[in-house]
Amino acid sequence: MENVISLKNITKSYGDKVKTEVLHGIDLDISEGDFCALVGQSGSGKTTLLNIMGLLDRPTSGTVSVFGRQLEKSDNDELTAIRGRTIGFVFQFHHLIGAFNSLENVMLPMMAASGGLATKAMREKAKYLLDSVGMSDRLTYKPDEISGGQRQRVSIARALAMDPKVILADEPTGNLDTAMSNEVFSLLRKINLEQKTSFLIVTHDSTVAASCDRTVKIVDGRLI
Ligand SMILES: Nc1ncnc2c1ncn2[C@@H]1O[C@H](COP(=O)(O)OP(=O)(O)OP(=O)(O)O)[C@@H](O)[C@H]1O
Ligand SMILES: [Mg+2]
Repeated sequence: MENVISLKNITKSYGDKVKTEVLHGIDLDISEGDFCALVGQSGSGKTTLLNIMGLLDRPTSGTVSVFGRQLEKSDNDELTAIRGRTIGFVFQFHHLIGAFNSLENVMLPMMAASGGLATKAMREKAKYLLDSVGMSDRLTYKPDEISGGQRQRVSIARALAMDPKVILADEPTGNLDTAMSNEVFSLLRKINLEQKTSFLIVTHDSTVAASCDRTVKIVDGRLI
């Protein structure tokens, strides 16, 4: 199967004078329809890796490819365009805009995309997505007027706004109770099965990891 994202020998160092390498030669392929857990201790490099895979950050060395295309020579505008049509994010803390209601938060990525839909079409699509995550009765509620699980569901709808090929989720159930966590996880799985969207899910929860199709573990910046 084709790889949506492929990492070859990725390293990442932070710091100017004193460099600290936090990723030491990572190889990882996410194929179409993949449903993969990423586990590892705090500080092991999970978010750093996700940011590089999601084209939010560049590696110090190594190659990131999206659908077989190597991106090290791409400029930031090009990376933004590729990210916009390929990759969705669900963050640990929802990152919804507090002043906007659910509908507006889901419309935001569509509004940011150039040459996108007309406002009415964006609104219809945002409604459809919020309905698909069971939030159609909370369209006009702001993030502080809904529960943690509901905020994560709005975040998932937002991640789906641009029909991504892969969703990178950084502890999407990290701050939820068990029932909410199960609900959000089931939703991710449903999207994976119905739309063949690939997932890489960072989790500390062994039950969540065990429910994925495979698990990769990172220890001190190395995959094992
Ligand atoms: N912008 C930065 N500047 C310097 N060091 C950083 C930066 N971002 C991350 N690091 C370092 O890189 C290492 C990996 O951090 P990262 O956030 O990727 O860990 P993580 O596995 O996501 O941890 P957690 O489970 O706590 O979220 C840590 O030692 C951290 O201090
Ligand atoms: Mg992290």
